[in-house]
Amino acid sequence: MEKLQVNIPHKAAYSYDILIGTDLLAEADEFVRQYSKANKFLIVTNETVAKLYRDLLNIDNAFWLVLKDGEEYKNFDNLKLILDAAVEHRLERKDCIIAFGGGVIGDMAGFAASSYMRGCDFIQISTTLLAQVDSSVGGKVAINHEHGKNLIGAFYQPKLVLADISTLKTLDLRQLKTGLAEVLKYAFIEKSCAAPLYYRLFDFLQQNKKDIFDMKPDTMAKLVEICCTLKACVVNQDETEKGLRAILNLGHTYAHAIENLTNYTVYTHGEAVAMGMKMAFNLSMTRGLIDKNYYNQAMELIESYDIAPKGAVFDKEKFYDEMFLDKKAQNGKVRFVLPDSPYNVLVTSDVEKQQVLESIKL
Ligand code: NAD
Ligand code: GLY
Repeated sequence: MEKLQVNIPHKAAYSYDILIGTDLLAEADEFVRQYSKANKFLIVTNETVAKLYRDLLNIDNAFWLVLKDGEEYKNFDNLKLILDAAVEHRLERKDCIIAFGGGVIGDMAGFAASSYMRGCDFIQISTTLLAQVDSSVGGKVAINHEHGKNLIGAFYQPKLVLADISTLKTLDLRQLKTGLAEVLKYAFIEKSCAAPLYYRLFDFLQQNKKDIFDMKPDTMAKLVEICCTLKACVVNQDETEKGLRAILNLGHTYAHAIENLTNYTVYTHGEAVAMGMKMAFNLSMTRGLIDKNYYNQAMELIESYDIAPKGAVFDKEKFYDEMFLDKKAQNGKVRFVLPDSPYNVLVTSDVEKQQVLESIKL
């Protein structure tokens, strides 16, 4: 088992560990008691995860809340169900809400924990690759609003993140790929997260594709470890996205527009991010920020993982308008995260409309 630490300066109480390994669910009771002094636990999960893994997660003094599965349930109604369950079971502030699932459950249960009694303990037991490499770390918690994704939320760090690699074996290929899109993102931002470059994730992804698609436990654990280390490094420097943390949104300005234009029903988040990263590379190339060699290598890596769907065609003007509705727009300006050298990105709002329109191609 690997143990990493998120260590936010000036917030000693917000430091926490990420435990990564196989068959960790069996030991979860021991871990959660080590990291939380709670007497009672509320485990929030969904029907899919409950069916697969409920029997493997045995935590004493725990109540279960099993919600419906889907992004469309990341809303006020289900947030209320979580808070109602916490009230019904008389959880106190030192008690603990455990998110057991992917990013949807993690974001929503985390937001409930941030507001229940002004903040009770919170633990993430993440079961999708996307959650293990990204959403369970860093404290962004939220629900969706009818006018926007993740519009209502908070920064609320967990007491512990438990990434049991063994749970990944039941992910279907599409869900594996959606997590891999975020992994590719880390490869393209690695140097901006942590210089000097430690891992060369880009090379790792080029060299280990077969083992990754075979979900070899050692390889997956390595991937989760690298991505969590990079994310922790960013969050430690900028917990609340005043600056640096924006680099984690490479491809996401485009991706959110794609998801909104298609009502979140056509593409997974990872598919949209993969398309968005290609567009960000297009824009960097047009602006002369990167050379043709790196552009080609990056595009080949994205292609080789076959995440970005082919043949999508967008109305570019509508696409452009949609980007300005993104909640990350500041003073009407959209922030673009653009590759500017191998494994490095910059953040800028200084873009020309024509260049952005030209970048919207796959
Ligand atoms: P998800 O939680 O919907 O999980 C995807 C699907 O996989 C669901 O059907 C789920 O039931 C199923 N599933 C979960 N674990 C499984 C397992 N072990 N085996 C088989 N199936 C399993 O989606 P996700 O991709 O994990 O997360 C997406 C969400 O994360 C979005 O709501 C997004 O906004 C959020 N997100 C948050 C952050 C953050 O920093 N907080 C970052 C990225 C994404
Ligand atoms: N996934 C983006 C962030 O955590 O900031």
